[in-house]
Amino acid sequence: MQQNSSWVPIFPEQASTFAWQVDGLYFYLLAITAFFTIGIVAALIFLVIKYREKEKYATGAEIHGSIGLETLWSIIPFVISMTVFLGGAIVYYNQYRMPKDAMEIYVVGKQWMWKLQHQTGQREINELHIPVGRKVKLTMTTEDVLHDFFVPAFRTKMDVVPGRYTSLWFEATKPGKYRLFCAEYCGLNHSGMGGWVYVMEQRDFDNWLAGNVSGQTPVEAGRDLFENKLGCASCHQQNSQGRGPTLNGVYGSEQKLTTGQSVVADDEYIRNSILNPTSQIVEGYQPIMPTFKGQVTEEQLVSLVAYIKSLAGNASGTAPAGSSQSGATSTGSGNAGNPSASVPNPANPNGARLPTSQLTNTTIPGASNPNAPGNSSEPTRRDNK
Ligand code: CUA
Repeated sequence: MQQNSSWVPIFPEQASTFAWQVDGLYFYLLAITAFFTIGIVAALIFLVIKYREKEKYATGAEIHGSIGLETLWSIIPFVISMTVFLGGAIVYYNQYRMPKDAMEIYVVGKQWMWKLQHQTGQREINELHIPVGRKVKLTMTTEDVLHDFFVPAFRTKMDVVPGRYTSLWFEATKPGKYRLFCAEYCGLNHSGMGGWVYVMEQRDFDNWLAGNVSGQTPVEAGRDLFENKLGCASCHQQNSQGRGPTLNGVYGSEQKLTTGQSVVADDEYIRNSILNPTSQIVEGYQPIMPTFKGQVTEEQLVSLVAYIKSLAGNASGTAPAGSSQSGATSTGSGNAGNPSASVPNPANPNGARLPTSQLTNTTIPGASNPNAPGNSSEPTRRDNK
C-alpha cells in the first residue's frame, strides 16, 4: 500500500485511472531523449575517430547538399514531435475535462493547510477520504495566496487560485494512503502544507462517512446564509416578485446581461455576482445589489454556490448540468458590465436583512456602497479564519 511499491522504485505508486497515461507519456519522452542522446554521442565519437587528421593540410571533399537527407531530417522530427503533441493533448484532455457524474468535494486552501468539505457535510483538514473506483471532482479556491493541489500517486495537480474556482478530478484505482502536497510556493510553511489522501473501499468509506460528524452540508449552510444570515432571499424571492431575479433554475443556464452579452451561470459567475454584483447585471434588473466582499469567507461562498446550484433542479426550464469549465466564460469580462456608479446601493454594511419598508421603496436611501461598483474580481482577503 505504501509509496514504494511502484514498478520503478523511485516513482510514486500509480493509483489513478490516468496515472499510467502520464507515466507512459513521460517514458516515451525519456526514450526519445535517450535514443537521440546516445545516437548523437555515438555518431560524434565514431566520426571523430573515422575522420581524424591522417595527413597534414589535406582538403576536405566539397559537399553540395542532399535533398533526400534534408527531407528525411525534417520529416522524422516532425512526425516525432506530432506524436508527442498528440500524446500530451490526449492526457490533458482526459485530465482537465470534468466528468459530469463525479462526487464533488470542495477545497479551500489557506496558509498553510487544506480544508476540504464533502457534499454530505463532513469536513476534513489536510486529509481526504474518498472511495475507490469512483470519480471525484474537487472544486477549489483559496483564502489567501496561490496554492497547488498535488497528489503524486494520482499523477495530477491543479493550481488553487485566489478569486476564482479551479477544478481537478481523478478516479482512484487502489485503496491506500497517498501523499498530498501543496506544489506552489506559498510562504514560510509551504513545505508543511500537505497531508494524506485515504482511498477506501466503498463500504469502508460509507462507514467513515457515518462515523463522522457531518454538520451542515454545503447546501444547507448555503441556504442558511441565503435565507437568514445574509438575507439574500429578501430580494431574490422564489416568486420572481423580488427586486432581484429569482435564482431557481439559474445555475447552468444562459443569462442575458444588460451589456447584450450572454454568460453561462456557472460557479464562477455566481461567485462574481456575490462579490462584484454590478459587473454582470442580468437584463431587466437594476444594479442595486450591494457587494458582499469582505463579508463572506471563501467557504461560505462555496456553500452559497452549492445552494444556488441545488436550486437548478426546481426550475421548469432544463438547465444543462454542471458547466464545469468555470472561469472560461465569465471571468475576464470582469468589469465589462455596468459602469453605472451613479446608482446608489442600499446601505447594507452588515449584510443584514433589509427592513421591509426599504424593500418596497424604489429609491433607496442611504449612501452608496463605496466597494460596490467598479471592483475587479479580486480575491476576498480574510485574515481571521
Ligand atoms: Cu500552499 Cu505551497
